[in-house]
Amino acid sequence: MKDKIEQVKARFQEEMQSICGTEELEKIRVAYLGKKGLITDLMKNLKDLNADAKREAGQQINQLKQQVSEFIAAKSSELEAALAQARLQQDTRYDISLPAKPVTGTLHPITIVQRELEDIFRSMGFAVEDFKEVVTEYDNFEAVNIPKYHPARDMQDTYYLDNGQVLKTHTSAAQNTILRKYGAPCRAIFPGRCFRNEAIDASHENTFFQMEGIMVGEDISISNLIYFMKTMLSEVFQKDITVRLRPGFFPFVEPGFELDIQCHVCGGTGCPTCKQGGWIELCPCGMIHPNVLTMAGIDSEKYTGFAFGLGLTRLAMMKFGIRDIRVFNSGNLKSLEQFTIQ
Ligand code: FA5
Repeated sequence: MKDKIEQVKARFQEEMQSICGTEELEKIRVAYLGKKGLITDLMKNLKDLNADAKREAGQQINQLKQQVSEFIAAKSSELEAALAQARLQQDTRYDISLPAKPVTGTLHPITIVQRELEDIFRSMGFAVEDFKEVVTEYDNFEAVNIPKYHPARDMQDTYYLDNGQVLKTHTSAAQNTILRKYGAPCRAIFPGRCFRNEAIDASHENTFFQMEGIMVGEDISISNLIYFMKTMLSEVFQKDITVRLRPGFFPFVEPGFELDIQCHVCGGTGCPTCKQGGWIELCPCGMIHPNVLTMAGIDSEKYTGFAFGLGLTRLAMMKFGIRDIRVFNSGNLKSLEQFTIQ
């Protein structure tokens, strides 16, 4: 029995010398330690020995079994390490210290136009203000000369909240607060998101942006208003564009105007964007009503001023030739990413 054990041991040591792969190693493991393996066979032969010889041979076999197991485990780790090293040599090398390419996305087209306008007006001495989206009925209506139950309220389909406040239907809702903040003289613009329960079509959304502007001082007249409107539009479009001014009614201005721009999608011939009319209502404006100045604590005998309510979303449509207003709130990055400032 002792000889048999020595033979198995010697054979194992010899075979292990030529092992160079994990598959081969597994075959050896099965050949020695498997159910029908050489060491298992040796164990089976123990039954034919007497008690003393059985104990002695049993110890030797167990020792051999342990040596073989340890040897196989060590060889296996060695082979796996060599394999990993080889893979490392083959793989593409990455320099993890290189700075990553930043993926910053693109600005929304309305943001682009808004920022452009803010720069233009800042350069003309206007302050830029922000205002709430949930406002009081007073700010949205009464403070701009639209008393309770006045039919002019129907011009804007308003979302009322349970607490009696409203979602700002127009940026004019900030007029009173801004006029009070600056007093007279003052010039300020205040862009913001507006909400109306509108039937949605190519040029109407229920959520859209406006940009309000006011200028108050002594001797401010319609000429000033027209000058600023012209400057703003020629800066935004960087070319002469066709506009038309027509009378318009808004309780907070007197006189009031509608400033329309020739449709840039069809060039004025008529299309679904301009409802076949060739014109887009862009920027109603007018001379601030004395009641609005008085309600903001400004002496309306001494001061006059103009106000305008630019449709920022529609301006972005015209600037970029966007046919349908629904693109803006769609979240469709394929559409929105096309408009960049680079
Ligand atoms: C007003 O909101 C007035 N507050 C504007 C104003 C301010 C007049 C100061 C005089 C003095 P109007 O409802 O017409 O007016 O809206 C102004 C502009 O916002 C429109 O010309 C249009 O360009 C844009 N606009 C209005 N409703 C929508 C809508 N549903 N979707 C997209 N743009 C709209």
